[in-house]
Amino acid sequence: RPVIFSGMQPSSDSLHLGNYLGALVNWVALQDAYDPIYCVVDLHAITVQQDPEALRQNVRRTAAQYLAAGIDLDRSTLFVQSHVPAHAELAWVLGSMTGFGEASRMTQFKDKSAKQGSDATTVGLFTYPVLMAADILLYGTHLVPVGDDQRQHLELTRDLANRFNARYGETMVVPEALIGKESARIYDLQEPTAKMSKSAGSEAGLVKLLDEPSITAKKFRSAVTDTEREIRFDPASKPGISNLLGIYAAVTGKSIDALEREYAGRGYGDLKKELAELVVDTIAPIRARTLELMQDPAELDRLLAIGAEKASDRAERMLRDVYDRVGFVRRG
Ligand code: TYM
Repeated sequence: RPVIFSGMQPSSDSLHLGNYLGALVNWVALQDAYDPIYCVVDLHAITVQQDPEALRQNVRRTAAQYLAAGIDLDRSTLFVQSHVPAHAELAWVLGSMTGFGEASRMTQFKDKSAKQGSDATTVGLFTYPVLMAADILLYGTHLVPVGDDQRQHLELTRDLANRFNARYGETMVVPEALIGKESARIYDLQEPTAKMSKSAGSEAGLVKLLDEPSITAKKFRSAVTDTEREIRFDPASKPGISNLLGIYAAVTGKSIDALEREYAGRGYGDLKKELAELVVDTIAPIRARTLELMQDPAELDRLLAIGAEKASDRAERMLRDVYDRVGFVRRG
């Protein structure tokens, strides 16, 4: 069965609606036909400073949200990145094959570092995409379900896989990105031209899976729209309404066309209220289940240890092959 790999950073106290619709929904759906590996990427999270106790809590909380959303351990492998040292080890090898200029062209790095200034920007943030390539290539991954913002990182991963194969012989599977349509880019409800994000954007525009339902509903009711009255999908001139329609489509599976017809002649208030209910109905059970799972951190740790064991076996095999091909002497 084709291998799926994906991950999220445990860098906040809750996943948000962009993480959920852009990635997690697809992760759940793909479990039947694939061999999926889902990771909590804590090594990536520390590329910006984290509070240690908060990080520990957020790692478990992220794993709990995967499970609560429907990741099923009979079908999927779920583990924490730092439990499998091969990720950092392969990243070193790949980093030694990545051009400085090539890494410098990553737009996420450019955006983040421009905001921070060069001394606050870590070397880890710079090599972040190389570690991500290592995550993916360690498992012979065929498909990587992610949001649209990861497209360029996936291109780098493919380039590195091809480069490794050309230099050392067929070793790596060259992976494809799997990016949804309506759900690939969810925007901030207050700033609908900026992507919904735990670090940028506004608190009021960020819909968190673990927010109380009343807060989620309020965030939708106060979503920024425009001064027209027509419910029409037009991201350039109506970013707010278009984002709401995109979220609506992603949550219900209805097409944007069908939604435009359904809401023809009706007001923005109706759209916001009905969408708020739909989103709350979708995420409230995930929130409840996450809080339940968080009651028993020892059990979560036990499940994560089983996942780490499974992932390690596979990752070690690839790393050994890579080390041989690169020309390292095996430890006798
Ligand atoms: P992270 O934690 O920033 O995002 C996790 C996933 O959520 C998607 N996403 C969105 N999708 C739609 N609209 C949004 N506003 C939005 N915001 C976030 C992201 O595209 C991502 O799929 N670098 C990865 C983490 C990672 C990874 C990997 C992913 C590390 N190694 C290997 C896949 C394979 C990231 O952005 O995480």
